[in-house]
Amino acid sequence: MAIFRKSIFTAASPNTQFDDVLITLITLFSPWSWQNEYYNNKFKLQFSEYIKVPYVNLIDSGRSALQIALKTLNIKQGDEVIVPSFTCVVVANAVSYSGAMPIYLDTNQADFNANYERLAEKLTEKTKAVVVQHTFGKKVDVDMVKGILNSANRADILIIEDFAHSIKEDIGLKGDIGFTTFGIEKVMSTVRGGAIFTHKQEIYDALTHTIYELPKFPTWQLIKSLLNPIFWYVAIPLHSVGIGRFTIGAFIRSIWRKMGFLGIMVEDEENRAQKPDWFPAQMAPALSRLGIVQLRKLKKYNTHRLIISKIYHLYLKELSDSEAIDENRVYLRYPILLKDKEQFIKVWNLSRKLRVTLGNWFEKPLYGSTVDDQTYQVLCYVPSLTPETLNKAGLTLNLPTSVNMSKERARELAEEIKSVIV
Ligand SMILES: Cc1ncc(COP(=O)(O)O)c(C=O)c1O
Repeated sequence: MAIFRKSIFTAASPNTQFDDVLITLITLFSPWSWQNEYYNNKFKLQFSEYIKVPYVNLIDSGRSALQIALKTLNIKQGDEVIVPSFTCVVVANAVSYSGAMPIYLDTNQADFNANYERLAEKLTEKTKAVVVQHTFGKKVDVDMVKGILNSANRADILIIEDFAHSIKEDIGLKGDIGFTTFGIEKVMSTVRGGAIFTHKQEIYDALTHTIYELPKFPTWQLIKSLLNPIFWYVAIPLHSVGIGRFTIGAFIRSIWRKMGFLGIMVEDEENRAQKPDWFPAQMAPALSRLGIVQLRKLKKYNTHRLIISKIYHLYLKELSDSEAIDENRVYLRYPILLKDKEQFIKVWNLSRKLRVTLGNWFEKPLYGSTVDDQTYQVLCYVPSLTPETLNKAGLTLNLPTSVNMSKERARELAEEIKSVIV
């Protein structure tokens, strides 16, 4: 019966399992351990071994990682940094906070990555770096990017790889710096957190110095972060108890939101391209403690993502990137591109009936819920210059691949979507 069906959310703490809740509770009730650097050091070491990159620094988030990477690489006012337009607003913000100008690269026709083959058209003498984003987890060919820079005699341009959607056992960093996030809805979660990594010791030393000077993670943000996985673990099953949209889970969620306990991924100021003053900050050791538990399960999570993505692909490849799913395509979320708004709404409603809430990355270019034309102006983004991104934004939905999605539910969802689109 539908009312007892478990709700599945693509975004709401999808990696949280019982052991994560346990460690979160233990951490919450042992405040004397919150600043214990032992957890940061251990997590950093284990993460470095996992991704097979020797130099890793932790930080409060992916957005701060990018901002601090740019600062450390001495990128400043008057410089240009190339970023994808099919991304989150916090990426463009990070460039803008550094003083540099973000220059936008349109999206490929065939998939959801930026069209790096047209990179040469964006290069000027002011270009200092290019952000290579592995969108949804599909790897960009970084050797190809390097080849384009070399042919343009611009091997001096730094490559910063954005692994926000892809953390694999051997991450395969080829750029000068890589960064990732441990955000609540990402590949593995410390609720809030991030890492910057490099093969180059001199960059690592400079990063270590800059991060050492940052303020500590604020206590209020930490408490809020620790409450989030516990909240979702309790609230999600209660989302199935009720009628239609009126469920106990939805009710307690709205109360939590009003009380300000629910984490906000993109804050109001960020939607307006302004910087909240509490970050960049150091990684909270208390959150690294959750990271150690998550990292142990990451291989299992990624194998699961691959299996679920293959199921979706079997039914829906004509709506996605049609190449075969493989290790270079472990989707954090499986993206589908609908034909028009009518089809989009049909698929959205049908999924809700199956008690699956799909994701909406990236509903608009430089995505943030209240990003508007004024934000675009501040960030020097001209939508008409990125037509493919405009085609995709607003018609893309993301199907969950996390451990909370079973093979049976994935098959059912894909079959139903297929029946709507034919
Ligand atoms: C592609 C991409 N890069 C970077 C980030 C920033 O990560 P964080 O949320 O930890 O700041 C995000 C976050 O949504 C993202 O989607």
